[in-house]
Amino acid sequence: MFETLESKPADPLLAIIGLFAADKRDQKMDLGVGVFRDDSGATPVMQAVKDAERLLVETQQSKAYVGLSGDLEFVESLFELSFGANVGLRERTLGVQTPGGSAALRLAADFIAHTNPDTTVWVGTPTWDNHAPVLAAAGLATQNYVYFSVADQVLDFAAMDTALSGAAAGDVVLLQGCCHNPTGSDLSVAQWQRVAEICNEKHLVPFVDVAYHGLGSGLDTDLVGVRALLEQVPEAIVTVSCSKNFGLYRERTGGLFVVCKTAAMSRVAQSNVLSIARASYSMPPDHGAAIVKTILHDNALTRKWQDELNSMQQRMQSIREQLARALGNNQGGIAHQKGMFSTLNLTPVQITILREEHAIYMAGSGRINIAGFREADVDRFAAIVGPLL
Ligand SMILES: Cc1ncc(COP(=O)(O)O)c(C=O)c1O
Repeated sequence: MFETLESKPADPLLAIIGLFAADKRDQKMDLGVGVFRDDSGATPVMQAVKDAERLLVETQQSKAYVGLSGDLEFVESLFELSFGANVGLRERTLGVQTPGGSAALRLAADFIAHTNPDTTVWVGTPTWDNHAPVLAAAGLATQNYVYFSVADQVLDFAAMDTALSGAAAGDVVLLQGCCHNPTGSDLSVAQWQRVAEICNEKHLVPFVDVAYHGLGSGLDTDLVGVRALLEQVPEAIVTVSCSKNFGLYRERTGGLFVVCKTAAMSRVAQSNVLSIARASYSMPPDHGAAIVKTILHDNALTRKWQDELNSMQQRMQSIREQLARALGNNQGGIAHQKGMFSTLNLTPVQITILREEHAIYMAGSGRINIAGFREADVDRFAAIVGPLL
């Protein structure tokens, strides 16, 4: 049966990892892969995570199954971290733990396809490379709306407003909660409120992917727009990843929240979500969620984690400011963009030359990982790349 298979193209970003590893040049810069790095280029385990792991080793009594929804205390903690202590919202929201943000997205996509197979999901351009494959794998139809112009480095809200205003009742709008991947350009609170208005007028369901909470302007500020949206709409879907803000990438830690019109509807929806999870990964892995719960249940550990997260956020903000200064006036937007990524207006040929001649590695789209810079790299990067922009 396997002789009919044809090879799939390798993920281009993984190919870049291989090329970078094989590059012997001292001045090489890895701006490709989307993980946080400190100024030495390492992606360390956070100290709060290490402390929580120590506690878990000492106190955990069992590795027996936790259940289809995962660890319910983790789910409560993640809800409160993301949306605040909003009892009214919580009552009509189902929450389940998932294996990372990716599985939350896939579970959400399968749930949408199961509930309304004829729906169209509206996807902003550009967006994270994996959004389209996840939605396609669930069998969902998609349409694009223009989100950001890389050439002009501006968020095109007028284009987005026009496109969404033409969507059909029951359609779903995929959005990113903060630190937009790959542009770093987020909606303002007023724009989130306008999105809520459009969703209400046109009967659309917002579907918000939150993968970088705390890494834009900080935990208190990053999701103000998402929270404002959730106050205004009757139904919504939100996926949350703990990969970046807890540095738990390989531990596959995240959650799916579905806001329903009533608490009774959320219980019915939950039973549907869980039956889909049961037929795929069954139950999420425990370790990452146990770490997050341990941190968020302990004031001292929470403070330690927040301090570490703040210093990660500040490092990226400071690199952004240095980079914008070094690149000159027309790239000032980089200082105002948020989180790990910006996308530069470079051609594929220029990106290849940067890699081959200057050992500067970035995604083929021109996306750069701001955390990939060491402070000492910024001026060399600006001197080489600045004239191309
Ligand atoms: C926008 C966005 N959503 C979701 C994810 C999924 O993260 P994970 O599955 O590692 O939790 C990522 C990871 O890079 C992302 O950038």
